[in-house]
Amino acid sequence: MAKKVAVIGGGSSGLCVIKCCLDEGLEPTCFESSDDIGGLWRFKDPEADRASIYKSVIINTSKEMMCFSDYPIPEEFPNYMHNSKIMEYFRMYAKHFNLLKYIRLKTKVCSVQKRPDFPSTGQWDVVTETDGKKESSIFDGILVCTGHHTHPHMPLHCFPGIDKFKGHYFHSRDYKHPFEFSGKRVVVIGIGNSGGDLAVEISHTAEQVFLSTRRGAWVLNRVGDEGYPVDIVLTSRAKAFFSQQMTKSMVNAWAEKRLNARFNHSHYSLRPQHRILNQHPTINDDLPNRIISGRVLVKPNIREFTETAAIFEDGTKENIDVVVFATGYSFSFPFLENCVRVVENEVSLYKFVFPPHLEKPTLAIIGLVQPLGAIMPISEMQARWATRVLTGLAKLPSASDMMADITQKKVDMAKRYVKSPRHTIQVDFVEYMDEVACQAGVKPSLPSLFLTDPKLAWEVFFGPCTPYQYRLEGPGKWDGARKAILTQQERILKPMKTRVVKDSPNQASVPFLFKLIGIVALFAVVLAYF
Ligand SMILES: Cc1cc2nc3c(=O)[nH]c(=O)nc-3n(C[C@H](O)[C@H](O)[C@H](O)COP(=O)(O)OP(=O)(O)OC[C@H]3O[C@@H](n4cnc5c(N)ncnc54)[C@H](O)[C@@H]3O)c2cc1C
Ligand SMILES: *[C@@H]1O[C@H](CO)[C@@H](O)[C@H](O)[C@H]1NC(C)=O
Ligand SMILES: *[C@@H]1O[C@H](CO)[C@@H](O)[C@H](O)[C@H]1NC(C)=O
Repeated sequence: MAKKVAVIGGGSSGLCVIKCCLDEGLEPTCFESSDDIGGLWRFKDPEADRASIYKSVIINTSKEMMCFSDYPIPEEFPNYMHNSKIMEYFRMYAKHFNLLKYIRLKTKVCSVQKRPDFPSTGQWDVVTETDGKKESSIFDGILVCTGHHTHPHMPLHCFPGIDKFKGHYFHSRDYKHPFEFSGKRVVVIGIGNSGGDLAVEISHTAEQVFLSTRRGAWVLNRVGDEGYPVDIVLTSRAKAFFSQQMTKSMVNAWAEKRLNARFNHSHYSLRPQHRILNQHPTINDDLPNRIISGRVLVKPNIREFTETAAIFEDGTKENIDVVVFATGYSFSFPFLENCVRVVENEVSLYKFVFPPHLEKPTLAIIGLVQPLGAIMPISEMQARWATRVLTGLAKLPSASDMMADITQKKVDMAKRYVKSPRHTIQVDFVEYMDEVACQAGVKPSLPSLFLTDPKLAWEVFFGPCTPYQYRLEGPGKWDGARKAILTQQERILKPMKTRVVKDSPNQASVPFLFKLIGIVALFAVVLAYF
């Protein structure tokens, strides 16, 4: 009999988890507390249990890097999609793989508890609530997909005087539109991705925006070299391979030099003390434009508030009407009780997925990572592994080996990143995808690919590390993967080909030179492998 699996949450992670369950012959039931799928990406006025976005959000990961591995995003869709377009893709995915019939909407999971015979069966009692009515059912496995951008982190205790402040203050999660700030003086606290985005958008209507930051930030542009999406340019096996050969400080120097070439971070009061690899980067295309036009002024941390003003740590004082706390999120799993403990965003999970101390590995957390890249293909990869553990086809190491791995990861993270609740679930995209892919038996084998299919191997190694690479071999192999990889370049350019242009003929010799250098480099790499 097929094992029954409860999938908690019907956002992008929940959707691909349902599909992976079906692929492995499991019987999924997905519980979604709201009245529709899509999770965070479905724009709506704020709801209690659900993450929330503002009207204009455009994703910061490009379409070829964020898609599910066996379902490319249509070629005519833009590289960086508006949230409505992303929802369109998720709905297409759900329809194509016929996932909707496994989802129970408006059904909240209230508690998940081990059954008394858990040590032998690994089964769970799940209590759900629909329209105020509670129901209890038994499941063989639990896959938790509740996201980690739901609960606002708002450190009011760090801002003396905020209780006296007469203006309006709120968390970035509750921001929806810019027009209510027309003519106001606004301070945005925090220069993560949300803080940067909100400062830019509000600065189009406000009288003045101040962007307050303790540490500063390195700012990346969505539009990378030659106009390619920045993640397409930066996320490749070749880049990962070559940067492993260099010291961290060489990589830092190279990357910082390039960012400073766009605009000198010192001149824009943004330069942080830390190096670029030590903090989760901020992606923002417009921030330097808003700073150079004076609409956004970068300020240090706020020391205290008065009834009408903010006093910054450099002693300057500005009258303020509105404060936006873009201070991030905290996550928790209230329905799991004692199985997964979270303290200030610190959690102990084997490869960010499995609690190490369960008698049976029948519970996994999906999507609880902060990658330098897209979350969707990572959730999918985790799900491919987790479903194989549920069926028994993949095995976990002993609890003590898992704990050792968890501890090592924490040590590495503490060494690399500035200490902050923001940096507890950081992963590098290619390295982490490969690590989980090894567990699921789907990591592409490059040396044999170079011998059997050099054209494909070339694109896999030098091209962007797109999710299709993990469908070339192993369980869940997809026949369309090769073609998807060889046509990804066309899908990137297609949506912008909206007017016929003629290239001048004397530009043609340059790409040939690049190819020649590439071929030489390829030989060097193949030699290095053997
Ligand atoms: C402003 C913003 C921009 C972002 N931009 C990007 C980006 O560019 N690229 C990227 O990869 N990521 C981005 N993210 C991260 C984002 O979290 C992921 O893209 C993605 O939404 C994660 O999907 P998820 O399914 O794991 O979680 P969610 O989308 O949060 O979905 C979780 C679902 O679980 C449901 N749920 C929660 N608790 C329960 C319960 N007890 N019972 C039943 N259902 C429950 C919720 O209703 C929700 O539908 C961004 C986040 C924010 C806040
Ligand atoms: C940026 O500006 C600082 C201060 O003016 C200067 O020392 C530094 O050399 C500049 N960096 C670059 C890359 O131009
Ligand atoms: C994109 O933005 C979200 C939220 O604003 C952030 O959590 C994520 O890290 C960003 N992605 C990258 C690759 O920087």
